[in-house]
Amino acid sequence: MKVEQEATTDLRVVGDLTVLRSKIMDDAEADYSWRIDAELAGLDATRPVTLTFTEYMRYHRDDVSYPSPWSVRMAIDTLDGRHIGNCMYYDIKTEKSQCEFGIMIGDREYWGRGYGTDAVKSALKHIFTATQIERVYLHTLTGNLRAQRSFAKAGFSIVREVKRDGYEFVLMEIRQKDWAASHPEPQPAIDDEALESTISSTSVSKAASAQHQTEAGPLPGAWRPATKQSESP
Ligand SMILES: CC(C)(COP(=O)(O)OP(=O)(O)OC[C@H]1O[C@@H](n2cnc3c(N)ncnc32)[C@H](O)[C@@H]1OP(=O)(O)O)[C@@H](O)C(=O)NCCC(=O)NCCS
Repeated sequence: MKVEQEATTDLRVVGDLTVLRSKIMDDAEADYSWRIDAELAGLDATRPVTLTFTEYMRYHRDDVSYPSPWSVRMAIDTLDGRHIGNCMYYDIKTEKSQCEFGIMIGDREYWGRGYGTDAVKSALKHIFTATQIERVYLHTLTGNLRAQRSFAKAGFSIVREVKRDGYEFVLMEIRQKDWAASHPEPQPAIDDEALESTISSTSVSKAASAQHQTEAGPLPGAWRPATKQSESP
């Protein structure tokens, strides 16, 4: 799948604490309650929406009915199906193989308990294995230390501080090659009996055999990054 050319409508990524899934009409009520919340808007350097719920529903219906190939919105559920927030990757630039990322756990009950970091990790896994995107960046307010810590735990590094529209942000990024280096492809399980019989019949050492498994490369169908390097915005 290339998100640059096709809208994503049936996404599902299961993590340790959360499930990322495509947005649905039933998300509207929770989304609206989070979008009119002044504290949540402040953490995102935006203003709370002033639309009525009926007006908001029009936008939501369009978002769900006509997903864009240039921005992918995902709901964050707990493993038992409670909708606790949203995240998205957007401003997808095919020529630079990069996109921006944003997240909001709207349900405060789930702040500081690892849910956000788990969702960010799942989003990165999806982006770096199912799309051609090689660089994901984000802006978070300099004072939002919980967010910065969470993004760092998921693998993001600080690039620099950025001033924009009267706000001070920290620009953070992660590149596919660095993500892939810390997420090696799982190797096929080695059947001990078969291995022993191979060793005795060929006199190949167990160490050399394991080495061969490692050098065999990724499993068939694994995504390979292009070599192009993108630039910071
Ligand atoms: C930012 C957000 C996604 C993080 O998700 P989360 O589930 O709350 O975060 P986690 O529990 O996974 O990790 C938070 C980390 O920050 C740490 N932390 C919390 N408050 C902190 C503070 N004031 N200063 C420094 N570190 C802090 C926690 O101790 C934890 O680190 P640890 O695991 O090493 O102890 C979530 O809190 C959220 O959506 N908040 C509201 C909206 C928002 O801020 N969005 C980001 C906009 S860029």
